[in-house]
Amino acid sequence: MMLKKAAAWREIMKLGGMRKRSKEVRSYYRALSVKSLRKEGWFDFMTIPRSIEEIADHFGYVDMEFLRKYLEAYSNDKILIKEEGKYRTNGIVEDFPAIPPDLFGPGLAQLTADAANNIPQRLKGNHITFHDEMNVFNWDDALSMKMYECLRMAAFKFSDALSRRGTFIDVGCGSGVGTAAIWGYYYKKGAFKSGDPVKIYALEHDPNLKRIAEEEFASYVSRLHGIDRTAIDSLSEHHPIFVQGNAEELPFEDEFFDMVYTSQVLHWCDAEKATKEMMRILKPGGLFFGTEAFYPMMDQYTELYILMNEGAYGAIMKEDFMRWVREAGATSVDSATPVGVFKVLK
Ligand SMILES: C[S@@+](CC[C@H](N)C(=O)[O-])C[C@H]1O[C@@H](n2cnc3c(N)ncnc32)[C@H](O)[C@@H]1O
Repeated sequence: MMLKKAAAWREIMKLGGMRKRSKEVRSYYRALSVKSLRKEGWFDFMTIPRSIEEIADHFGYVDMEFLRKYLEAYSNDKILIKEEGKYRTNGIVEDFPAIPPDLFGPGLAQLTADAANNIPQRLKGNHITFHDEMNVFNWDDALSMKMYECLRMAAFKFSDALSRRGTFIDVGCGSGVGTAAIWGYYYKKGAFKSGDPVKIYALEHDPNLKRIAEEEFASYVSRLHGIDRTAIDSLSEHHPIFVQGNAEELPFEDEFFDMVYTSQVLHWCDAEKATKEMMRILKPGGLFFGTEAFYPMMDQYTELYILMNEGAYGAIMKEDFMRWVREAGATSVDSATPVGVFKVLK
């Protein structure tokens, strides 16, 4: 087990200084939010101490929980001072430099900058849905330094999933780059030749992303693994089955899968429901594995950005995740690296 943990660590180390990278992301989101809320008039209004109710009334905000989270984040950072339940500025609030983090490709940097303009709207209860925009690039490209590939490799090395066979599902597959990469890993292991092949399924909530995943599957495999298109096409009966559906209500019967994989999906949905659903569709003896940016790796400002989106519940605690899987029948649970590579046996 120590060797598997070390292998997972080696993959994550390829990203170099995750804490520094996480700090850069946090600073970027914080700077964008301060800019947006300054335009809204927050810091002029809060030269006088204001209660959360006064702030909500003045600006017409309805989501008190989301407002509270911003006020708490700003008081933790001394952007606002909290005294006797009221919030005020401590003199002039300076703009922070909004430097796109190294980890973000230009598409994601622009997308997040645009989204920050919607913070006041979100406080008024209007979410954004960015999935359509996410079609223009995929997560593997959106984050630099092959971050998603490193996470995926870490999860596979930690869990030893490639030594298993049977039914496999990638829950929340996005535009399917990860699914194509995974198919290639099994192809290289000869898993589509043997009498006991791996059957891969992939599920995605967003219909457009699901369509892209299906249509681009062969070209992704070819690009990622350098496998000839004719070889890929000749194995069409072993290609993944792409399904549109919700991780919170998976459209599969109990104990259908030998392996359930999910990467960076739980914070976008009701994580407890989704976790328990993933355990439900897993066979006894099966493997549930993947990655999730648990607190505190995912900081407050990143979470607040995620919470802008329709359907997102935000970051989770590793301890909660561990409890949910145990409640759902896990016989063993283990995790590695601060990014949250996990492995659960049922
Ligand atoms: C950060 S992306 C990760 C994509 C992919 N797992 C990967 O590693 O490249 C998160 C994905 O989860 C999907 N998602 C969010 N909520 C979901 C839900 N309730 N059910 C299924 N997928 C969901 C999003 O549409 C998005 O494609």
